[in-house]
Amino acid sequence: MQLNKLTLLNFKNISEATLEMSPKINCFLGDNGMGKSNLLDAIYVLSFCKSFSGVPDRMLMKLQCDCAMVKGEYLRRDAREEVVMGLSAGRRKSFKRGGKEYDRLSSHIGTFPLVMVAPNDVDLIRGAGEERRKWMDMVISQGDRRYLDMLIRYNSALEQRNKLLRDGVVDHNLYMAVEMVMDGAASYLHARRREWVEKLTVLFGRYYRIIAGEGRETVELRYEGSLDESPDGSMTALLDGARRHDEAVKHTSVGPHRDDIAMTLDDMPMRRTGSQGQCKTFTVALRMAQYEFLREASGVRPLLLLDDIFDKLDAGRVERIMSLVTSDDFGQIFITDTNRKHLDEIISRMGSSYRLWNVDDGVFTSDDVTL
Ligand SMILES: Nc1ncnc2c1ncn2[C@@H]1O[C@H](COP(=O)(O)OP(=O)(O)OP(=O)(O)O)[C@@H](O)[C@H]1O
Ligand SMILES: [Mg+2]
Repeated sequence: MQLNKLTLLNFKNISEATLEMSPKINCFLGDNGMGKSNLLDAIYVLSFCKSFSGVPDRMLMKLQCDCAMVKGEYLRRDAREEVVMGLSAGRRKSFKRGGKEYDRLSSHIGTFPLVMVAPNDVDLIRGAGEERRKWMDMVISQGDRRYLDMLIRYNSALEQRNKLLRDGVVDHNLYMAVEMVMDGAASYLHARRREWVEKLTVLFGRYYRIIAGEGRETVELRYEGSLDESPDGSMTALLDGARRHDEAVKHTSVGPHRDDIAMTLDDMPMRRTGSQGQCKTFTVALRMAQYEFLREASGVRPLLLLDDIFDKLDAGRVERIMSLVTSDDFGQIFITDTNRKHLDEIISRMGSSYRLWNVDDGVFTSDDVTL
């Protein structure tokens, strides 16, 4: 898949921009705060219908403006496609593919696959389990619609059970009804998560070794599923065992909403012992594995957005990442950096042609570089 042209109007600090993209490497170069990450965010919005930074839609409109637009013209499965997001103060967000408004935005997600590598990815390692669950759910559900349905079903039953506990309800039948729903959904989530983490750890380990250098460090991902703690592997038995405790604390203390992924480096927990560069390598390798997973699930090569990825990495790792992402396994890429010399040196060694934009206060000027 390829983004051929991006048009922006009043998107964050970018008043107006039309960018014709290179089919392979696109670099955005500029000082801090100039709008490089904002540009990547605009591309992200067209795939996920919301900002990467998590800010509400109204904050995507340029200050003092009451409307904004992001339009992407793509080539996807040999067909031209157009995706447009329109924002207007006080109105519902408009999101169109091929001129047609979506009924449900969730049906768009996954159609224009994209992977972003961002500075705050380190939260995947250092953050709470919720970060890892959100990530796992987001990636699995892009390749498996049923997973998303099951997740929604589980979460709504969980909410009902928590309400019963909060209200001090003692009617056993009411608990049985919601716990049956939780049981069915939980075993599906558990099986899919286990399968996914097992698959991902192989891809991830391979990318880690490529980036860190062969034989340097051993890394592993291990699924920590709550159902593994159940006497017979079922959610029902797990809930039975926790019932007294749950009634006392008035919420559900066990289940897939507490699952996690253990991340280790040389058998030590990554979140405690990883150096900054190792954490960065770890997250880049996680994103590469996610990329490969999505490519297989969707049958198209996702867009790859690399925001500030050279920070904290030694020269060898940077070079290995660049030769990886410029290979044919990866498609179109978008890279930001603050240092032109740095970027020129790295990419010139790759021998690929690329397009480079200078970003200055939301204004983009480009020069084509063919080596
Ligand atoms: N809605 C908005 N309207 C106007 N400006 C905005 C809006 N949202 C964010 N900005 C501005 O965009 C700028 C940040 O841009 P961005 O994050 O893209 O910088 P960057 O080029 O990636 O910098 P760095 O190298 O530090 O990562 C900030 O100055 C911020 O104030
Ligand atoms: Mg930035």
